[in-house]
Amino acid sequence: MDTRPIGIFDSGVGGLTAVKALMAAAPWESFVYLGDTANAPYGDRTPAEIRGFSRQNTGFLRAQGVKALLVACNTSNANAMDQMLSDNPDMPVLGVIEPAAAAAAAATKTGRVGVLATHATVASGAYERAVRALMPEALVTAVACPKLVPLVESGRTDPADGELMAAAAEYAAPLKAAGADTVILGCTHYPIIEAAIRAALGPGIALIDSGAASVGALLQALAARDALGDKEKTGGRRFFCSAGLERFVKTGSAFLGWDIGPRTELAAL
Ligand code: DGL
Repeated sequence: MDTRPIGIFDSGVGGLTAVKALMAAAPWESFVYLGDTANAPYGDRTPAEIRGFSRQNTGFLRAQGVKALLVACNTSNANAMDQMLSDNPDMPVLGVIEPAAAAAAAATKTGRVGVLATHATVASGAYERAVRALMPEALVTAVACPKLVPLVESGRTDPADGELMAAAAEYAAPLKAAGADTVILGCTHYPIIEAAIRAALGPGIALIDSGAASVGALLQALAARDALGDKEKTGGRRFFCSAGLERFVKTGSAFLGWDIGPRTELAAL
């Protein structure tokens, strides 16, 4: 047993989609969450910048005494995973891309898989590689969606929001044209606007939540090291953001369905 917390990070509130899934699957696990809101969005940054932020975030979480790292940011995962693995050889470092690709390969019936993600994730080609490693015949169509993260970060998640729906429709169109039967939400912010994306894609398409998909792999990695927490207790929950505390608390609380304010602090990174 290991009751130390799991360290989880994203550029903002997106990684809370992984937190929600972790709390449902393993409520006994403690976690420390960091949203690097001062530098969000990561999706339009260069790989070198993303690698710098990723190192800063894992360093911050390590200083909180974590037992494992969950990179709940596809963009960091796609651009800095090699560095995070070599920086942290003493603990499990899990990402979201491989579990999401595995879930998509299991879900698709036609082999036509769509990916909605940030510019930097699409440019890396990480999803094409991950899906085709499992399913070489798959046809992967990846679409960069730069308008979505700023909308989510500003709390505009209601499918009745015209600007949000117009953006979702724009990004859904190439996936519909490609005949995708399965779409990976390849940015952890997107499940927060799942209703808008679902409405834009139309019925009958399987959506894969990359943050949620990662939780099974994380718990397996901990179990393999005999490092799960104390199942008799409820785990501790701490949140940090690097800017815009009030907005982070508001959007995060609305998504998780409980007030994270008393457990959230501003991080000096
Ligand atoms: N939520 C992130 C991801 O999964 C980062 C989005 C961004 O900051 O652009 O890619």
